[in-house]
This record gives sequence, C-alpha cells and structure tokens, in this order.
Amino acid sequence: MRFINAKFIKSASQKSEFLNDELPQVAIVGRSNVGKSSLINTLTNNNKLAKTSSTPGRTRLVNYFNIDNKFYLVDLPGYGYHKASKGIANTWDKIMNDYFTDNEKLKLVLLLLDSRVLTTELDKQMMDYLFDKQIPALIVLTKVDKISRSELNLQIDKLSKELRYSKDRIVATSALKKSGVEKIGAILDEYIK
Ligand code: GTP
Ligand code: MG
Repeated sequence: MRFINAKFIKSASQKSEFLNDELPQVAIVGRSNVGKSSLINTLTNNNKLAKTSSTPGRTRLVNYFNIDNKFYLVDLPGYGYHKASKGIANTWDKIMNDYFTDNEKLKLVLLLLDSRVLTTELDKQMMDYLFDKQIPALIVLTKVDKISRSELNLQIDKLSKELRYSKDRIVATSALKKSGVEKIGAILDEYIK
C-alpha cells in the first residue's frame, strides 16, 4: 500500500478517549527519541504531521492519524525516559497497558529500534509483553543514515540472531533519506485487509 492522505484525528490521554471505530490500527512503539514521530512523517511524506523533537518524551499522548480512511497509524509515548519520575512512569504504564489490552482493532505494532543501539532491556520487556498478549510486531530499525551499509548489515545479522527473527522481517528506515517506506507498506498490506 501507499500512504496518500494522512490526517491527524486526535490525541487521547486516557482510555475513555481511545478510538474504537471500524478502522484497523497500526501502532508505533519504541524508546523515547528513537524516531517514532519521524517515521510517521516519513511514511506519510509530511514533515509537519507528527511533532518531532530532539528532547526525549515529546509524545505523551496516544495520537491517531487516519491514513486514506483505511487504517489509523497510532503514535504512542516512548518508554525509557520516565524512569526518574515514578508518578509519570505509572501514568505511562497505565495508558500503554490500557491501549494494548483487548484492543481488537490493533493489527500490528511497529517496534522501533535505533540501528546503532539495537535492543535495550526495555525493548526486550516490550517484546515479551507484546508476545504475551499475542500482538504481532514488526522490527523497524531507525536512523540508518547514521551508519554505513556494512555496519547496517552487521547490525541486522546480530539482531536477527539475538531475536531469532527472520532478516527479511527487519526493516531499515531513515527519516533523513526517506527510506524503508515501500517495504513497510508491503508488510502492512498483509495485516490490513
Ligand atoms: P518521543 O516522542 O520523545 O518518544 O520521540 P520519538 O520516538 O517520536 O522521536 P522523534 O521522531 O521525535 O525523533 C527524535 C530525534 O531523532 C529528532 O531530532 C529527529 O530529527 C531524529 N531522527 C528521527 N529519525 C531519524 C533518522 O532516520 N535519521 C536521523 N539522522 N535522525 C532522525
Ligand atoms: Mg514522538
């Protein structure tokens, strides 16, 4: 699929505000600052759609973007940044857990990993969590413009061994080069009918 008309619909700060209409949903998760909002802008070819920032923790709400009236791309708050403040961490856990629990509209999660860092402990926890909930996840590497081709291949080898995950299901993306969009589109076709 291609992403033609993308429109911001709403931000939700709690369960009662979540969208639950007929459209399927594809959610984007990952550490704070990994490039979730940037990926939304790359996919939709609109640099102003999702707010990006070099300050971690920019996205604190569940943001819904309608894509061609076919599905919602859902930008979720990043993890790993709220460690210092227990109060915020609890709110984060609650909104994420609410979003992922009994969400029949959620068809796929794009789990973003920085191509230079790969997995952190929190990413592993996130993967285990999604696995337990039987939510399918696609691994998306971000910021691949910051490493060389050969480094990228090494990183993909390493990750695929570590996670016992097929290499052709790891998608390399760059917001700077606008790369990886077609591959993500092709995979979304499998999950959104
Ligand atoms: P939170 O909302 O805080 O969780 O962050 P996020 O995951 O939405 O990250 P965001 O998209 O705001 O990007 C964080 C920073 O990384 C910004 O300064 C982006 O410009 C930069 N960035 C994101 N993707 C890429 C990329 O592919 N290449 C490069 N070079 N920089 C990127
Ligand atoms: Mg963001």
